[in-house]
Amino acid sequence: MITVENESIVKKKREAAFHAADMVEDGMVIGLGTGSTVSCVIHRLREFVEHGLHFTAVPTSFQTEILARRNGIRLVTLDEVEELDLAIDGADQVDRNGCMLKGRGGAHTREKCVASVAKRLVIVVTEEKLRESLNGSVPVEVIPFAYGSVRNVVQMMGGNAVLRESGGKDGPVISDNGNFILDCDLGVIDDPYRLEVSLDTIPGVAGNGIFSRYSKKTTLVVGKEKKIEVISF
Ligand code: A5P
Repeated sequence: MITVENESIVKKKREAAFHAADMVEDGMVIGLGTGSTVSCVIHRLREFVEHGLHFTAVPTSFQTEILARRNGIRLVTLDEVEELDLAIDGADQVDRNGCMLKGRGGAHTREKCVASVAKRLVIVVTEEKLRESLNGSVPVEVIPFAYGSVRNVVQMMGGNAVLRESGGKDGPVISDNGNFILDCDLGVIDDPYRLEVSLDTIPGVAGNGIFSRYSKKTTLVVGKEKKIEVISF
């Protein structure tokens, strides 16, 4: 999905991403999320690699894998590690309690696997992404066989599920895991934990974009007009 951002947002994002990258220390094993914010993080990490910092990363998508390799970052797969010192990622929305909506780029299932084994989760956003309550469509990754039945359940829950398609390909977007994505509008999300668990229990769902369980280990880095704010929950 292509999003157009103005210069001020790009600057805030880059500064916050650099701030997060500065948290990486020698010897760490880190997780790298996906998207434009993580791309900024990777560009900063390249400088560290060039200055001799040793760390290893688990990428959450083909996009991140390719970019990290190009920038000299040593990669391992998730099955090669037991836990991660920290994971750095972006988000689409963050609410007042640190619950997040992710998955604009369709990488949320792997991002959640990585977040779950990270000791610390560093989420980088610009101030435009802060919300009182989450209120966007929830990306739900589904195995292709079950996309119709999952869509019906979401409709019975009062939502509207749209099969994600892309400008770069005819037909549905295929995730890095070979699945479809349903973008599910369920209105304002007052209870993210409940909705996250409900969606995950629908047969055929591989993962959804609500991240409600990691607030306690989250460090939120917010890019603002004149400063960077770091928030813990
Ligand atoms: C990837 O699928 C997403 O979860 C991204 O991490 C999220 O959409 C943030 O992306 P940007 O950093 O590009 O805003």
